[in-house]
Amino acid sequence: MPDQLDWIPADIDVDRPSNARVYDYFLGGAHNFEVDRQLAEQIIRMTPNVGDTMRANRVFLRRAVRYLAGQGIRQFLDIGSGIPTAGNVHEIAQAASPGSRVIYVDIDPVAVAHSRTILRDDPYTVVVCADLREPADLLDRARATGLLDFSRPVAILLAGVVHFLPDSDDPAAIIGRLRDAVCPGSYLLLSHVTGDGQPPEVLAAYDLSGQTDSALRLRSRAELARYFDGFTLVDPGLVFLTTWRPEPGDEPDEDPQRTAAYAGVGILAGDVRA
Ligand SMILES: C[S@@+](CC[C@H](N)C(=O)[O-])C[C@H]1O[C@@H](n2cnc3c(N)ncnc32)[C@H](O)[C@@H]1O
Repeated sequence: MPDQLDWIPADIDVDRPSNARVYDYFLGGAHNFEVDRQLAEQIIRMTPNVGDTMRANRVFLRRAVRYLAGQGIRQFLDIGSGIPTAGNVHEIAQAASPGSRVIYVDIDPVAVAHSRTILRDDPYTVVVCADLREPADLLDRARATGLLDFSRPVAILLAGVVHFLPDSDDPAAIIGRLRDAVCPGSYLLLSHVTGDGQPPEVLAAYDLSGQTDSALRLRSRAELARYFDGFTLVDPGLVFLTTWRPEPGDEPDEDPQRTAAYAGVGILAGDVRA
């Protein structure tokens, strides 16, 4: 392994694929290993749509961050932020509103190491290594950075991460803990894979995630809607990725269901203090 590369921490298991690095490969990134590429290629052979879903997820995330910036949001807590690629949350947010602050949180050592490298000169962005399954610890670490003012609205971003939590982790309770840490006028952004209306080959491809460090749990629209408890979904609600507020110039998607993932953004009820 080329040990001069600062995005490769010394203690990672390079023989087991990681979902962060597989995702990076699908997005055309360079922060992945042979074992990740092999799994990604195996998934692509089973269903090419999975790559489209990951790219559509990224497009949704950028669009939604632009929307949030347009709503006056200047603080972002991006959990399961992944390995930085083109068009990261801080770049979108800061382009829309200079000085916007972003805390990136991930459990993957490569994602954290590479994020730290590219963010070291940005005073408005930090990266925290924490586990979504431990929300109290995650929030303590986020607060300890001093970067965000939790008495002002914060957008909690959970893009493509909650589906790594099994039901036994009680994702609704975890999201509830995050919700209780932010003030009215804050937002929750969620994108999540679903089996709703999907053919068997897509379901089988998702089963391959069991080979990575965490398996995917597909959830129905009704299950995901419950995660917005306390939030009011903004238009158009919880919809397939490509149909969430397409921007002028976006290609119309004739078959949004094939993205096999839902996306939604909700605002926490109460006084808006943005
Ligand atoms: C598919 S990527 C999504 C990246 C980015 N949010 C996006 O939507 O483009 C999922 C990320 O969630 C991270 N992740 C998975 N389980 C996590 C956990 N329990 N706590 C924090 N991060 C987690 C993975 O390491 C990975 O980087």
